Amino acid sequence: MKITIVGGGYVGLVTGACFADAGNEVTIVESDTKKAGMINEKTAPIYEPGLEPILGKTIGKNLRAELSYDSVRTSDLTFICVGTPANDDGSANLSFLESASRSIGTALQKPTGYHVVVVKSTVPPGTTGDLVRPAVLTAAHKKENDIGFAMNPEFLREGRAIEDFQNPDRIVIGSSSSMAGDRVADAYRRFQSPVVRTSLAAAEMIKYTSNAFLATKISFANEIGNICKELGIDVYEVMKGVGLDQRIGSKFLDAGAGFGGSCFPKDVSSLTILAERAGIDPQILRAVLAVNEQQPHRLVALLENRAGQISGKRIAVLGLAFKDNTDDVRDSRAIPVIRELLEKGARVAAFDPMAGPNMQKIFPSIEYAGSAADALLGADACLVMTEWPEFSRINHEFDGMKKRIIIEGRHILTCDGKEGICW
Ligand code: UGA
Repeated sequence: MKITIVGGGYVGLVTGACFADAGNEVTIVESDTKKAGMINEKTAPIYEPGLEPILGKTIGKNLRAELSYDSVRTSDLTFICVGTPANDDGSANLSFLESASRSIGTALQKPTGYHVVVVKSTVPPGTTGDLVRPAVLTAAHKKENDIGFAMNPEFLREGRAIEDFQNPDRIVIGSSSSMAGDRVADAYRRFQSPVVRTSLAAAEMIKYTSNAFLATKISFANEIGNICKELGIDVYEVMKGVGLDQRIGSKFLDAGAGFGGSCFPKDVSSLTILAERAGIDPQILRAVLAVNEQQPHRLVALLENRAGQISGKRIAVLGLAFKDNTDDVRDSRAIPVIRELLEKGARVAAFDPMAGPNMQKIFPSIEYAGSAADALLGADACLVMTEWPEFSRINHEFDGMKKRIIIEGRHILTCDGKEGICW
């Protein structure tokens, strides 16, 4: 099939690369010249395990990045993978989606065969039908029969996105007509997975609901973890016993410093606002966000409890990325922690295997150490903020600290004398 992907961010690039790897002819429309150039040179502009080998195999063969929308006209399908960042009030900003829709419509003005426009970006229910569809059709001067519309949410975890794309739990396809949905299903025929066919708005809601439920599991585990901590119980022992109940499931019950990233905080906020606008009081969603906001402060409170006044003290922060296997720091739980430490006059020495340069844009004047050992040298206390597997091997490096006050916000250390936020 001929496929155009609009947006070469992590979702668009992974989707484009995996569709190309499955034998399709794929063009990624990316307006950032530098990013498009890197992709065409087989270099991934983001860190994503497994992505560059696929770019190496497909660029120059059946995958390319372009600045223009020209490929849309000759494609069977166009996937919209642009960002939908949060507005100041927490609602989703749909301006990139709207302008991409208009550009796709303009490209479809010329005579074309039947074309399907697929929204992959996470959008509030109703967006594909009420915003994308009219924007494309008006710009294209065409009627619904010539262009089909579909909504196909992504369930890709950063750091494991290729694996998730190639081995999906399910493929959700919402569509305006069965013909449009069939074409999207055809693009996925190489991937073994149940396919769920729905209306456009139900597909949009499935994405929000999935992320909100996963975020709820985490906040629930954190609340139970906070109770366990007070009672002197290890929440990881508890959740092992709880998660084996198949009705509950053991995944996403890892208590800790809370969820970060570009998806959960934004999507739960956006769903909360949607609910309020619909006249519903979203009590659970609000509690999910509240518990998440509170966890970083609990970590600093625990630190003060152990280390006393932290003003003037050197605090090592290990882990800056919002989770392991990525250099992404968006909404990382390390951000509120570092902010509070600085407000309280601490000197922060930070280390992350990958995310230092990105965090430097947010906190330019803290110390960025080249290794965990350097950050720990002379530190009065240490906080662990990211579940990097390599942190499980840190041991003698802690001997360089003034005092072994080691508090982890992720259940990752194996050394002696550590204390967990909820364990
Ligand atoms: C999440 C979803 O898992 C994907 O299915 C979805 O497609 C994606 O958002 C999206 O909407 O684009 P992602 O944000 O990449 O993926 O990362 P996750 O692995 O879900 O982790 C999110 C946060 O939750 C991290 O900060 C992680 O440390 C935290 N977490 C995760 C916990 O605190 N406990 C857990 O048990 C699991």
